Amino acid sequence: MVNSNWNRYVGQVWFANFLQLQLDREKTVIEVAPGSVNKIGIGLGACKFNGDIYLVEPCPPALDEIAKAYREYGCHWNIFPVNRTLESGLPFLPKNPEAILSNHPLDDMILSKSLSDDEIRTLFTDHYEAPVERTKIIWDALMNKPIELERAKTAVVDEWAKAIDTLNPRLVVISQYDSCFFRRNGMEAPDREAYDVLSRLKDRFADNHVPLKSKYIEDKSRWLAFKFE
Ligand SMILES: C[S@@+](CC[C@H](N)C(=O)[O-])C[C@H]1O[C@@H](n2cnc3c(N)ncnc32)[C@H](O)[C@@H]1O
Repeated sequence: MVNSNWNRYVGQVWFANFLQLQLDREKTVIEVAPGSVNKIGIGLGACKFNGDIYLVEPCPPALDEIAKAYREYGCHWNIFPVNRTLESGLPFLPKNPEAILSNHPLDDMILSKSLSDDEIRTLFTDHYEAPVERTKIIWDALMNKPIELERAKTAVVDEWAKAIDTLNPRLVVISQYDSCFFRRNGMEAPDREAYDVLSRLKDRFADNHVPLKSKYIEDKSRWLAFKFE
């Protein structure tokens, strides 16, 4: 598992958010699209979370890796892997969780709307090692099909809205900060389109929006928190 300084930094931002939002460490959280990276886990570990964690991830090798990492983290939490997308996983997820959490999911969620299940598995299995060209080719293809892109973005907004309406969480927190990976590789579309989806979600749940305060968040417009109470 990747465990760089960057992961620890983002993990500390999540920890600060959990303190601000007074996350109940005894309850249930659902993490969406973790990939194989435990940034949110670092934050949960820092606040000594010891409830139930559902990991919703459609790519089997990534899910196996992240579930193993969480189990070996040395915390008294229970891990429930759900090998599904957020939408198809809804029947397997608990109602009224304390929180639905997701770190930097929206670019990949947009992309996966234009891929078959097999293609999702292949792309996200070796996402971190795969040549950047593969991600670039798929994004370029999507950018050349504006109708398909709009359909994909609308579908991601609807997927999140349906999950929130169905599961009735107390909190929802999603980050979608600018990616160094995309910047380094001259790709502007994923950050721009994912930010558009984040903004549409913010508008959709404007009444529940809570500004996050951590001084470690560079661009607060790229972190979204909702409180439902
Ligand atoms: C690479 S990870 C995102 C980054 C990771 N959370 C982090 O903090 O570095 C994105 C994951 O989203 C997953 N994914 C794509 N579409 C999804 C969906 N509709 N529901 C849940 N997960 C999805 C992919 O399988 C992929 O592993």
